[in-house]
Amino acid sequence: MDFTPSQASQRQSLRQTNRVGSLGFSKVKQLIQRIAFKRQAQGSVALVGSGPGDAGLLTVRALQLMQDAEVVLYDYLVSDEILELVNSKAELVCVGKKAGFHSVPQEQTNQLLVDFAIAGKRVVRLKGGDPFIFGRGGEELEVLAAAGVSFQVVPGITAAAGATAYAGIPLTHRNYAQSAMFITGHLKGERDDLEWATLARGNQTLVIYMGLMKSSHIQKQLIAHGRDANTPIAIVEKGTHRDQRVFTGKLSQLADLAEGAESPALIVVGEVVTLANKLAWYQAESQQECVELDVASGV
Ligand SMILES: C[S@@+](CC[C@H](N)C(=O)[O-])C[C@H]1O[C@@H](n2cnc3c(N)ncnc32)[C@H](O)[C@@H]1O
Repeated sequence: MDFTPSQASQRQSLRQTNRVGSLGFSKVKQLIQRIAFKRQAQGSVALVGSGPGDAGLLTVRALQLMQDAEVVLYDYLVSDEILELVNSKAELVCVGKKAGFHSVPQEQTNQLLVDFAIAGKRVVRLKGGDPFIFGRGGEELEVLAAAGVSFQVVPGITAAAGATAYAGIPLTHRNYAQSAMFITGHLKGERDDLEWATLARGNQTLVIYMGLMKSSHIQKQLIAHGRDANTPIAIVEKGTHRDQRVFTGKLSQLADLAEGAESPALIVVGEVVTLANKLAWYQAESQQECVELDVASGV
């Protein structure tokens, strides 16, 4: 590519700025360490997002804190691949919540965080995705703040961003969606406080966390409030994991598709899903499985 002299000089100065701005990897590492040690000298908690599963999506800071931790409290959503990167001398405590599995009550997790920090430990609270997106990260920090425990937050890639990216589904696209909404499908009973008319609007992508169990209700409400029954949908199961699976179909097929999917899974509703055929790039374990439901043929 050719540059005019002024573009070339702009580029050169940008490079210099970047060199100073980015400082080089070892300098960045030092800075991260300084932050980590300063904060952790008297015992503190790092609330760390581990992303949707692929260890390659961890941030540098997340990795550094995990390797520096004395205690790590983690959820079921944190992948084994990521847990393997934790300091091998650290105490690992599973405080997960999962239907059908032993669950640690939230109050107990909060208390453990406070107790370990007060005991002077460098604690990492490791969560799947981003700790502030449907992750109760805020609730845990409120308890730490009230107890006078120092903390820091390391954001992670939330499932809506990670799983869709690995499924070849852009959340927004100038031709299909000018906005994206993230909601939880973890509703209490059939009644809910969601504004279905807003959620059913066209030209937007709706991403539903924890929606498998309520897929039939979600399907009915979206169609009843005006979303076209033919709107493309996808369910991304274990997004970014080696065994990721992507199910695609129409909104009218959501409940049927959901029956074949396992948690953790995200439901994506919107025209952007049509791009998955063209843009799917991630090859899961053997080959990415893209399951299209054909209700008419009963497959
Ligand atoms: C309690 S929420 C936690 C969300 C997390 N804090 C985040 O930012 O991704 C759990 C839900 O996130 C979604 N989820 C998390 N990881 C996922 C993944 N790898 N693939 C698909 N969905 C995922 C599922 O809907 C799952 O039921």
